[in-house]
Amino acid sequence: MRAIQAAFPKTRLRRTRQNASIRGLVAENTLSAADLIWPVFVRDGEGVREPVASMPGVDRLSVDNVVEAAREAYDLGIPAICLFPYTGADKRTADCAEAWNPDNLSNRATRAIKAAVPDIAIMTDVALDPYSDTGHDGFVVDGEIVNDETVEALIKQALSQAEAGVDIIGPSDMMDGRIGALREALEAAGHKNTLLLSYAAKYASAFYGPFRDAVGASGALKGDKKTYQMNPANSDEALRCVERDLSEGADMVMVKPGMPYLDICRRVKDAFGAPTYAYQVSGEYAMIKAAAQNGWIDGDKAMLESLMCFKRAGCDGILTYFAPEVARSLR
Ligand code: PBG
Repeated sequence: MRAIQAAFPKTRLRRTRQNASIRGLVAENTLSAADLIWPVFVRDGEGVREPVASMPGVDRLSVDNVVEAAREAYDLGIPAICLFPYTGADKRTADCAEAWNPDNLSNRATRAIKAAVPDIAIMTDVALDPYSDTGHDGFVVDGEIVNDETVEALIKQALSQAEAGVDIIGPSDMMDGRIGALREALEAAGHKNTLLLSYAAKYASAFYGPFRDAVGASGALKGDKKTYQMNPANSDEALRCVERDLSEGADMVMVKPGMPYLDICRRVKDAFGAPTYAYQVSGEYAMIKAAAQNGWIDGDKAMLESLMCFKRAGCDGILTYFAPEVARSLR
């Protein structure tokens, strides 16, 4: 599709850029608080707000403070909050049993938010890394991250989250067959309206570094995640992952990380037209924050530009640590 275009000077493309009103009229995309999912880190205790050193402006919050954060987010027009538990070494075991403990941190936070701010959507992560002594998203047997045994555990984890009241379950583990297995288990347990937002095209990325600090996984992780997360060199494979997950019952799909992978976002949106999200991950957030703190870029403008670019690339929404800051800035 091409607009008819006369030769210069009949066409002066600068005419449509001459002032803010005209630019607004021809803007092809918009960014609003309604596009955002806010990832938050939850930890034990009460009244706790503990800064994450590698993510300036991001704190680990105890459950009471997470409830306040959810209230603030909802009042700012942010539709969803995504919970990530920070798990101490004592709760990281080879069997990962804490992952499906009905009273684990994630489930306690879910119930507390549901009671206080019932209308905000709650998203959670399905993967074993917060609970495993190896820092891996699956069970490790003789050095191998085993697929099918892990999927059995993910089912227990997801069911405990659905039971606690989670609206959107986000499998981030990259095991094969987990979307179909989770969908079947959710249906069988009567959780017919629980959404699955698959981390379908998740790459083995260096940009997750600050997140692993935030959830206490950096020290724990042995080796890398390249046998389950994708090779950054690949793009056709991302489409196969997304197609597979949609065919197994995913309601929404995600590309992760975000900004270095905008080409993948566009391909996924064009190929399937499904609700498509990107995760602007911890390392992307840290880079913008660090440069802004040094006075090297205008942090507010870079934040808004980076998020608009996700919309332009075809995303319906973005998981971003900037969410409340963006929402305030857009007011
Ligand atoms: C773990 C998980 C990770 C992130 C979200 N879920 C890290 C990883 O795969 O090692 C990263 C998020 C971020 O960097 O902001 N299943």
